[in-house]
Amino acid sequence: MPIEINKAKLARRPIPSAPQKPTDAKAMEERTALEEERIYRAGVATIRDLIAPASFQVNPRSLILSGVHVRTLFVITYPRNLNLGWSNSIINMNRTFDIGMYFYPIKAPVILKQLQRRVGIMEAGISEDNEKVRPRDPVKETALRDIESLRDDLTQGIEHFFQFAFYITIYEKDEESLGKATEEVESMFGSKLIFTKAGFYQAEQGFNSTLPLSLDELMIYYNLNTSPIAASFPFVSAELTSDNGILYGINRHNNSLILFDRFSLQNANMVVFATSGAGKSYTVKLEILRSLMMGVDVIVIDPEMEYKDLSNAVGGTYINLSLASEAKVNPFDLPRAVGEGTKVDDIIRSAVITLKGLMRIMIGTPQGEKGQPGFTPEEDSLLDRAIIESYAKKDITADLVDLEEIEPPIMQDLQDILEGMIGGKDLVARLKKYTEGTFSGLLNSPTTVETNNQLVVFSVRDLEDELRPMAVYTIVNYIWNVVRSERKKRILCIDEAWWLMQYEDSAKFIFALVKRARKYFLGVTTITQDVNDFLRSQYGQAIVNNSALQVLLKQSPAAVDLVKKTFNLTDGEKYLLLESAVGEGIFFAGARHAAIKVVASYTEDQIVTTNPQQLLEKERARGDFEKATGEAAPAGASKSDLDAIEKDIASKQAAAKAVLSTEDQGKAEAERIKGSLAM
Ligand SMILES: Nc1ncnc2c1ncn2[C@@H]1O[C@H](COP(=O)(O)OP(=O)(O)OP(=O)(O)O)[C@@H](O)[C@H]1O
Ligand SMILES: [Mg+2]
Repeated sequence: MPIEINKAKLARRPIPSAPQKPTDAKAMEERTALEEERIYRAGVATIRDLIAPASFQVNPRSLILSGVHVRTLFVITYPRNLNLGWSNSIINMNRTFDIGMYFYPIKAPVILKQLQRRVGIMEAGISEDNEKVRPRDPVKETALRDIESLRDDLTQGIEHFFQFAFYITIYEKDEESLGKATEEVESMFGSKLIFTKAGFYQAEQGFNSTLPLSLDELMIYYNLNTSPIAASFPFVSAELTSDNGILYGINRHNNSLILFDRFSLQNANMVVFATSGAGKSYTVKLEILRSLMMGVDVIVIDPEMEYKDLSNAVGGTYINLSLASEAKVNPFDLPRAVGEGTKVDDIIRSAVITLKGLMRIMIGTPQGEKGQPGFTPEEDSLLDRAIIESYAKKDITADLVDLEEIEPPIMQDLQDILEGMIGGKDLVARLKKYTEGTFSGLLNSPTTVETNNQLVVFSVRDLEDELRPMAVYTIVNYIWNVVRSERKKRILCIDEAWWLMQYEDSAKFIFALVKRARKYFLGVTTITQDVNDFLRSQYGQAIVNNSALQVLLKQSPAAVDLVKKTFNLTDGEKYLLLESAVGEGIFFAGARHAAIKVVASYTEDQIVTTNPQQLLEKERARGDFEKATGEAAPAGASKSDLDAIEKDIASKQAAAKAVLSTEDQGKAEAERIKGSLAM
């Protein structure tokens, strides 16, 4: 609450003085001009006037600033041991206050001389005790030891000596609440054996000392050496700030930074929940951009073609899957090299299970009470055999040792096998849609996509809605194979994950992935706007439970109660989520959580935004650039980059023009001289 008192202005009021005789007309004129200026200035409103309180009443124990009651407490003593971040609980208190800390360095020789005297006194005391055969006094001995080690450290320059002042100014609406707040702060300090007092007849000085003016008018300090002083650094807020990792945003409780390495948690998975337009994709894109800088590989499944700019900006691979595109992913792919001890037999078996899950989404018919797509028991065992035989057809059997050189079957192979089996007719008829029919472009070819880039984005926007769940299932399976083939820090980000929650099989598959990801150094990020659907599914709940990082941004009133229950939120947190602005919410890391505001730099914002207005402007800047320079705009350049390059080119062109025109002038001059000579 930075409030500056309008003392300066008060001081500038004219002091009435006896009229003086002007010595000459000029001086008179100057005087008039000054007077006029003064009159003018007195009527101008400055920022000072706007922020100054209307009244300021100084009482012995407190101030009243336009109705706000203000009291300053100062620390008088500290305990022998101070814990790191002892000031944390004060800073994180949910009250309005200002804190002032002043550090006055003291020269070591001055302190050493004093300490030497103290040592003398203490040793004398101890030896006197000895002589008189008194029992030893541990207090004296501890003090002596402390002083001796401090003397050593000061002499060697390991420690420095400071006088440290700590003031806290509390603001409350009336005297009673101020009294309560004072008690609360005092007991909070008291629990750490730190003793505080409120200034008496020093309320104004106390207030001034906590204004951001670096003006210590109280001068009540305590001698401390470097270590305890360092421990008083306030912003070590509950493990949400770590030494390594990336910036997720600003902690809205205390304006510290939320820095985090998701791979340092018990698992690296993350869920992001919010209503549409709350900033989910933005938050995740920022995380991706910053993680890439830390050398983490990122794979994204992008249903809205929103990650294209990001991919262009960092030179990623952008794969657009559609019926017509060249990019293909084969659902029959197998992982290449899996950790030692995994038998080919197991790999094939797990591939069969995964494929059957996919088949249920593709060609399953409603089964059971819920009407989920699936197969009758006969169809199921038929399919099981057919898939194993499809692999066998390509010589992929349990007695294979190495999976390096294999060529996996495709959907057509499965169909051929099924055609030769009794009772397979019905399945073949349904499968034909994907091998010969309209959808044959998607899942019936060997894999053509390459994933050896730090950022790979799969776009499924151009796929028919009906095909999306199976395409995403196949892609995730493919990514899972890649992940298992080489252990590396990776993030897999599934935007609009509720697509997958619609089908039990794909939901189960994602859950299995999330559960096993940790062992392969993979962090799965699931983003969803359909909170209700996601959390009502048992697999959705399980995914949340298996994600150590959870980000909740603005929630809709319809979903907030379920969110509150799932994440054990308090009422306050619930309202915070309902009223959050874009990019604001709560960040959970393991057991801790804090209110977050996601912030991006200008350049980052240009890369990750999905604001149509900003995108249009960028598009226009790109068009202008290409028109002005005749070159294609560099990929991923922001609007201001393009403007700057364009301006640069324009100024160079202007300079070139100027040179040419002076050249022309020179030529004309030469002609003229030549002409005059010839005359
Ligand atoms: N932290 C932020 N700072 C500034 N602008 C933001 C921030 N977060 C999001 N925005 C802007 O808000 C808009 C919506 O963001 P975003 O596309 O990330 O929403 P979303 O939650 O993914 O929505 P949807 O569910 O529809 O995909 C975008 O225009 C984006 O640029
Ligand atoms: Mg989005």
